[in-house]
Amino acid sequence: MAELTLAAPSKLNLVLRVGPVAPDGYHPLQSLMIALSAPQDTVRVALDSRRRVDCPVAPGPQNLASSALDALEAQVGRALPVAVTITKRIPAQAGLGGGSSDAAAVLRATNVVHACGLADDELVQVAEQVGSDVPFFIRGGTQWAAGRGHQLRTAAPLPGLNVLVVDAGVHLSTPCVYAAFDRAPHEPLPAAAEASPRNDLWHAALSLRPRLGRVVRDLRAAGADQAVLCGSGGAVAGLFSAPERAQRAAAILGPSYRTWVAQPDTPETRAPPGG
Ligand code: C5P
Repeated sequence: MAELTLAAPSKLNLVLRVGPVAPDGYHPLQSLMIALSAPQDTVRVALDSRRRVDCPVAPGPQNLASSALDALEAQVGRALPVAVTITKRIPAQAGLGGGSSDAAAVLRATNVVHACGLADDELVQVAEQVGSDVPFFIRGGTQWAAGRGHQLRTAAPLPGLNVLVVDAGVHLSTPCVYAAFDRAPHEPLPAAAEASPRNDLWHAALSLRPRLGRVVRDLRAAGADQAVLCGSGGAVAGLFSAPERAQRAAAILGPSYRTWVAQPDTPETRAPPGG
């Protein structure tokens, strides 16, 4: 196969419990992660004579896709020249995992077009070297993540979950949010996290971007049962008992914010490549 185009979903951390920073600078997590049907990027990988990474947000070597290709080349011990074209829809610095998802799609597609023959478990090991969230996107679906986010355990799907992802244009850097988390007192990581929505980074993100409080209030006023910060922010997800209620909230909030009505990502909900 000379080229392959894959949908790269965003993710929701429905639960994100965070423990005190470890000596390696990372925070131990317990997170219930769910791949979402929207927003999604599209990643095209084609055989080429040299490596190219086209992406409107972060082109070339600064893109996580380049780190992914470096790690895959080191794993298989040969050059894997490809032209990567990333069509961005997932907002950056929103906590939706867009860069990590694109990198995972590049690993999966390059494994096919260059006939590397790596199994998913081996791709997960390569993904661990690229970033904490990249292994999740190799697996997809619904996963409990532990460690720094890379130790995965498949969880039961949540088909009744209706999400409205809200991008208020609030951008947050993940290391800055974790640094703000470290400055405040917090509870130790529980032995096992409950599956009820909660994000331990909320107060840190709110301290850096007070406008997030307004976004949550607007979501609740538009009918969300609950609102959770997406990852380290700044997107916020409203949770609804029915898709119509999420659609209604999208209509109410639409003039003020960019919104996406989403369900858990499945092969059925996935946007056609290039769509
Ligand atoms: O693994 P990744 O490169 O995506 O992480 C980006 C940054 O997020 C890290 O440098 C660290 O500051 C923070 N982080 C953390 N604990 C985690 C995951 C990420 O402190 N479990």
